[in-house]
Amino acid sequence: MYRTWWTTLLFALSVAGTALAAGRTSPPSGAKVVRQGTTTSGEYATLSAAVAALPDDGTAQSIFIYAGNYTEQVYIDRDDVTIYGYTTDVQKYTHNVVTISHMQDAARAGSDDASGTLRIHSNNVKLYNINIENTRGPGSQAIALSAYSDQFGAYAVGLYGYQDTLLAQSGNQVYLKGYIEGATDFIFGQHAVSYFQGNTIAVTAGGCITANGRGSSDDPSIYVFNNNVVKNSSTASSTPGNYFFGRAWGVYSRVIFLNTDLEVTPNAAIWKAWSDTQDTTNIFYGDYNTTGSDVPSKVSEPSWTQKLTSSAESTYSITSVLGSSYTSWVDTAYLS
Ligand SMILES: *[C@@H]1O[C@H](CO)[C@@H](O)[C@H](O)[C@H]1NC(C)=O
Ligand SMILES: *[C@@H]1O[C@H](CO)[C@@H](O)[C@H](O)[C@H]1NC(C)=O
Ligand SMILES: *[C@@H]1O[C@H](CO)[C@@H](O)[C@H](O)[C@H]1NC(C)=O
Repeated sequence: MYRTWWTTLLFALSVAGTALAAGRTSPPSGAKVVRQGTTTSGEYATLSAAVAALPDDGTAQSIFIYAGNYTEQVYIDRDDVTIYGYTTDVQKYTHNVVTISHMQDAARAGSDDASGTLRIHSNNVKLYNINIENTRGPGSQAIALSAYSDQFGAYAVGLYGYQDTLLAQSGNQVYLKGYIEGATDFIFGQHAVSYFQGNTIAVTAGGCITANGRGSSDDPSIYVFNNNVVKNSSTASSTPGNYFFGRAWGVYSRVIFLNTDLEVTPNAAIWKAWSDTQDTTNIFYGDYNTTGSDVPSKVSEPSWTQKLTSSAESTYSITSVLGSSYTSWVDTAYLS
């Protein structure tokens, strides 16, 4: 049978569509395989077991995880590890079917980091298409992902918690096309240079999205957000008017929000100091082109915040923030 011009077009479009929605449904060559309840020789039933099996020889290694809810706490202290979750669309966190889950709080664990569901204490680690949750809930610091990691990348990764969900503590880091949920100071840390783009930031209750704790004037730490959406999480309560982009955990705190799409209304002040008596001279907070359906009708940012203009887009571009060598370690497929 011959093809009409339009069946050819439809065929071409469907092929293009398939190519765009690329999945990763089988392990890359050489990857350790994690599968819930596995009895297959050579596979691992937990991520921790697969991490423990990685050779300590300085080579780059990868782990592939099949769909499932893995209830465990995982510690990575080996450089050059890539962890992939099974997915039918590598670009979309909404297609994630792998969850690493643990319930612990900082008081019981002994520190913020020690409460983390996934703790990374090594460099050049990449995560793709997995969800990480701390199910502790309201009332305690309880970290889902703790990243003490340089050249760290989270791609289409979902982070679920309530207070202190993400500890972005040290090193140069990217969080691209993922999901980050919480209520209180849920993106925090002291020394990391972290760049966030294309994420959904989901607010569960009043509080602050960030609490950057940059410790001194010569600390490199800064959190830069570009092109993210802020919206309600699925369990949101009393969010409108009750959350802030950031509050200053220490007097050198630095956070920038560019091109943010608001789908739930923040407090009109957008930013706040830790206390009324905090010295705000060296706090560096600013937003540019905050848009969307839920921009407050009257914004009244504190006088000590920055008035950013369009030049902020180049001053805080990924190249400016991470250095032009970022292309050697960032998966740029997640920047478009
Ligand atoms: C994973 O399992 C834990 C423990 O049973 C549970 O609390 C959590 O809600 C589960 N997460 C998902 C995403 O199913
Ligand atoms: C977000 O959730 C709050 C409940 O806290 C609700 O009042 C509000 O309408 C929701 N906003 C949107 C845009 O869904
Ligand atoms: C403002 O940000 C939105 C995304 O939230 C983007 O679509 C738009 O192009 C930006 N406008 C300018 C002038 O950069």
